[in-house]
Amino acid sequence: MEVNQRVREMEVSIIRQIAQKCAKIPDSINLTIGEPDIKTPEIITQKTAKYMMENQLSYAPLGGVPELRQEIASFYKKKYNIDYSADEVLVTVGSTEALSTTLKGILTEGDEVVVVLPAFSLYEALLKMYGAKAVFIDTSKNNFKLTPEMLEEAITDKTKAVILNYPTNPTGVILSKEETEKIAAVLEKKKLFIISDEIYSELVFSGEEFYSIARCKNVKDQVIVINGFSKSHSMTGWRVGYLMTHAKFRKELIKVSQYTVTSPSTLSQIGGMIALRDASDVSSIAAEYEERAKLICSRLDAMGFDVVMPKGAFYVYAGYSKISSKDSLDFALEILEKTGVALVPGKAFSTEGYIRIACTKEKELLKKAMDRMESYIKEINL
Ligand SMILES: Cc1ncc(COP(=O)(O)O)c(C=O)c1O
Repeated sequence: MEVNQRVREMEVSIIRQIAQKCAKIPDSINLTIGEPDIKTPEIITQKTAKYMMENQLSYAPLGGVPELRQEIASFYKKKYNIDYSADEVLVTVGSTEALSTTLKGILTEGDEVVVVLPAFSLYEALLKMYGAKAVFIDTSKNNFKLTPEMLEEAITDKTKAVILNYPTNPTGVILSKEETEKIAAVLEKKKLFIISDEIYSELVFSGEEFYSIARCKNVKDQVIVINGFSKSHSMTGWRVGYLMTHAKFRKELIKVSQYTVTSPSTLSQIGGMIALRDASDVSSIAAEYEERAKLICSRLDAMGFDVVMPKGAFYVYAGYSKISSKDSLDFALEILEKTGVALVPGKAFSTEGYIRIACTKEKELLKKAMDRMESYIKEINL
């Protein structure tokens, strides 16, 4: 008796593996998981708790609580000038379910999906699970910027979708309006879905602008926007996210979601609604992550890492070729063993020669982690 072979071949994510090792080391500092340390805005927890005390929690309506769907559509209109109606929003169990529902709903065995590297490992895992082939574009030699030429080259007759993720986990890169429009011009001529994972859209640093590809009218009908509240409002455990797409696709995807989860938690959906009504501006949270990212970048730069300052999200992705020739898993394990600082190897994002640091700890602790790494790196470079 065996479970599905594809499932058997999958591994528990490297991030979780390192985090588990880290938990066994006394006085270790875990900078692996993208879990905000900043508290959920109090107004959200207070009002949601009150709602629970006063209301019976029943199954949510199919597709999501209407008031939340309306808030999401209005938020995208107001902030990004993108027109989606409440009937084009599908609320999901985190953006993870939005991604899973989307891929499960659109893919057929043998389809190809373009994934821009370095990339969040969930994409490849889901593609494997649904029998599709990931076609990678490695942007590491181009400062992590995707170009129209790279995209043209990766697309074939079998391409069903392209997954974009800006600001990117792990690099924090975003594309400008002009760059996004050039990418859209390539995709416009092709019959394929554009899955735009915008989970870090609210955590963009000062002076930068996130430009969603859904703003490009020539491709909007091909786009499936993925977003949620985990990162922007520190609501990881609430498990509430959403997708937005043309009503004709949403009508199909709603079935996938229904037969997988019935509906996301009603209470969490209320929390999401309150987040948008009462705490939609998270710029002070983004500013805190920016300060931390600056600190990490300057410390790593001084140690000899190659760093590109992120423009959003809360990670720093650093190249270590001047420090070590080890592969990224061995390098991360060495740092963990010798300094007690847990980092994620580039391997987890299908690129070698890098490590990712999550800036999801207070500055004092980040400084302590940097001090430990600095003394160890000085020692090995003697
Ligand atoms: C790029 C990206 N997309 C999606 C997710 C999933 O987030 P959630 O399911 O909590 O909304 C993550 C979480 O780390 C992420 O980094």
